Amino acid sequence: MIRSAKYKILLWIDSTMTDKAYSKEFKYTHNNPYHDRLEEFSEFVMRDLEAEAHAGNWNSQVFKRDAHLCVEIGSGYGHFMMDYCEKNPKINFIGLDYRFKRSYALAKKLAEHPNDNFRYLRAKGERIHHTFAKDEVDTLFYFFPDPWPKTRHHKKRLFQAPFIEAANQVIAPGGRIFIKTDHDDYAEWMREVIAAQDKFDCVMDTSDLRGEHPEHFLASFSTKFEKIFIEKGIKIKAFELVSRKGL
Ligand SMILES: C[S@@+](CC[C@H](N)C(=O)[O-])C[C@H]1O[C@@H](n2cnc3c(N)ncnc32)[C@H](O)[C@@H]1O
Repeated sequence: MIRSAKYKILLWIDSTMTDKAYSKEFKYTHNNPYHDRLEEFSEFVMRDLEAEAHAGNWNSQVFKRDAHLCVEIGSGYGHFMMDYCEKNPKINFIGLDYRFKRSYALAKKLAEHPNDNFRYLRAKGERIHHTFAKDEVDTLFYFFPDPWPKTRHHKKRLFQAPFIEAANQVIAPGGRIFIKTDHDDYAEWMREVIAAQDKFDCVMDTSDLRGEHPEHFLASFSTKFEKIFIEKGIKIKAFELVSRKGL
């Protein structure tokens, strides 16, 4: 109970402090050689604010076809993104991650991908409501996010009230968020965030994805980080949220 009260206070503090990265005036500042090197892949990679010029027009002007629009935050080395795009050629997919070197490594692999149903953003997940217009996203994936385990770093966790607001803006009525984490404490935090909001229904919440929901879509694949956690015997925590918009 004490722990739960602490989380509630933290959630309240976080929801009253708007992270700079969410604001309209935010500018990326960095001096990283991989920013320039990513230009080699400008056919499908966008950096910093470049992607935000396409808000509202991803399907019509970027992909030039009407399709289910999926977004993955924290694509990492891109195993899920590459597999999912290959197995689902009819969807449009946007992967994003803010690490430079990892983004460059993934861009090199994406350049060899057999399909062209994706774009990749070197960008922050906090920017989704500037990158996409209202109701533009059908599905959001968020797998094995950095857990920021120390209490003083909890405010860096992406999944909290401002993110729920941003996600609610961009996700279409009935759209879904799929989440997986290895981290018990972050899963508990997510549970608190989910319980404190009314924009999404939680239709699946498990502390043992493969033990309790072996048939679920989320149990049908393992990301790069997930394989490491499974090898260590860690049970995968997962959530599926459905937008309540229009209900
Ligand atoms: C532990 S890795 C997981 C990568 C991949 N999803 C997987 O399961 O193999 C977390 C990734 O999320 C990215 N990330 C963390 N916070 C982010 C944010 N706010 N915006 C974009 N990417 C973020 C990190 O750079 C890292 O590549």
